[in-house]
Amino acid sequence: MSSDITSEHLNALKNMVDKNGWDHVDNGAQYFDDPRGRFHGNGQIILRPVSTKEVSQIVGYCNDQRLAIIPYGGGTGVVAGQLSIDNKNVIILSLERMNKVRELSIDDETITVDAGCILENIHTAAEDKNFIFPLSMASKGSCQIGGNLATNAGGLQVLRYGNARDLCLGIEAVLPDGSIYSDLNPLRKNNTGYDLRNLLIGSEGTLGIITAATLTLKPQPTEVLTSFCAVPNVKAALVVLKRLRAKLGDTVSAIELLSNIGLKIVSQHFDQCKSPLNTHSDWYLLIEVAGSRALQPDLETVLAGLFEEDYLKDVVIATSGAQREKLWQLRELMAEANKAEGAICSSDTAVPLSKISDFIDDTVSEVSKVHSELRINSYGHIGDGNIHHNVFPPLGESKVDFVKKNSDVVVDLRMAINEATASNTGSISAEHGVGRLKVDDLERYADPVKVKIMRQIKDALDPHNILNPGVLLK
Ligand code: LAC
Ligand code: ZN
Repeated sequence: MSSDITSEHLNALKNMVDKNGWDHVDNGAQYFDDPRGRFHGNGQIILRPVSTKEVSQIVGYCNDQRLAIIPYGGGTGVVAGQLSIDNKNVIILSLERMNKVRELSIDDETITVDAGCILENIHTAAEDKNFIFPLSMASKGSCQIGGNLATNAGGLQVLRYGNARDLCLGIEAVLPDGSIYSDLNPLRKNNTGYDLRNLLIGSEGTLGIITAATLTLKPQPTEVLTSFCAVPNVKAALVVLKRLRAKLGDTVSAIELLSNIGLKIVSQHFDQCKSPLNTHSDWYLLIEVAGSRALQPDLETVLAGLFEEDYLKDVVIATSGAQREKLWQLRELMAEANKAEGAICSSDTAVPLSKISDFIDDTVSEVSKVHSELRINSYGHIGDGNIHHNVFPPLGESKVDFVKKNSDVVVDLRMAINEATASNTGSISAEHGVGRLKVDDLERYADPVKVKIMRQIKDALDPHNILNPGVLLK
């Protein structure tokens, strides 16, 4: 249990940073907002250290004094991992001023960056040297790599390049006692005992604060093709996925599923978004292939075959960079469109590929038992088995009014989707993490041995529970 934060503590902390290194919470509303507008965070002070040494000094002091710290990146997390909802006695420690590219090595094909680097800035630094850093998601303009790693973020190209974890070779982190774990190296192989890096990645700031990372870069493709297709049903979408991978191999970098309702709402809420197809369907796919050879003839052949066999109803391939970008906007603006439409519930679940179609059907059926007129937008990273279900009030009703009238609906919907996930042997969190939102769900659905070991690890590394208390475990 952490201690109350006194004015003496605050003064000591202010002295550990320069004059821009701290702020009153009254000046920092943005640190307490939830991107989906459901929660409100708390805190006593905002600290913005500029070096790993400063982070170490702050954490060491907080450990001695038993003060709780919320590590803070870009603030784009959607499971309240960065928001202390109940506990006001916390210090916000933002990595935003630690935002430098430390080194880009052409020989090692790596980039070493501070944790506060914004993801898109890492993309730009890599592209300047003819590489790519392929972790990508809609929040790339504001999320930070430290948060991406802490949550093992996924995104739009996991199918080909893996999650954040798979792209990280080394990390530097401040552990709960203030010590600095320094393992920034470009080694591809390093079997030397417990894998502390991969323990800290995905630990959501509960075991250490990641301060820097060495990331692996990939060659920049010379050809990138983006296609948008109408498919008759989810089973057909899976055939398309398998055929593309069989014929085009690892050049397939993204396959995203969109629903008819999703396409409708994204077009309604964003003027620049319009379906490029005249054909209407219940389901659509956004496909990207990229490589270092001419891929268009192969892609066209595969898509034509799928069309002949009625697995595709219509298809377009972008012919310019601007068109590609327009197609991607349909997908990247989906989360914001869901919010604007009044999503009561937004899930992040993964199931085996073989169960995706059943999972979507089961979810629709479970949700309709909660209320028969609810609308669902199921979309997402179909190639990873990672579907996001967003549930909206009946047409014509506002979210606020509907939730007021149906006070249990939020919890009921979450449980309905959880049950559909569990019965299809899925995970309650595919890529967003557990945060504070899904702590009970983890306890309920995870293997009890796993939860027990997680607790033991937490107790061993952070015996005073000062790092992100309330996240992952109660
Ligand atoms: C997406 C976010 C919600 O895929 O993960 O849109
Ligand atoms: Zn997603």
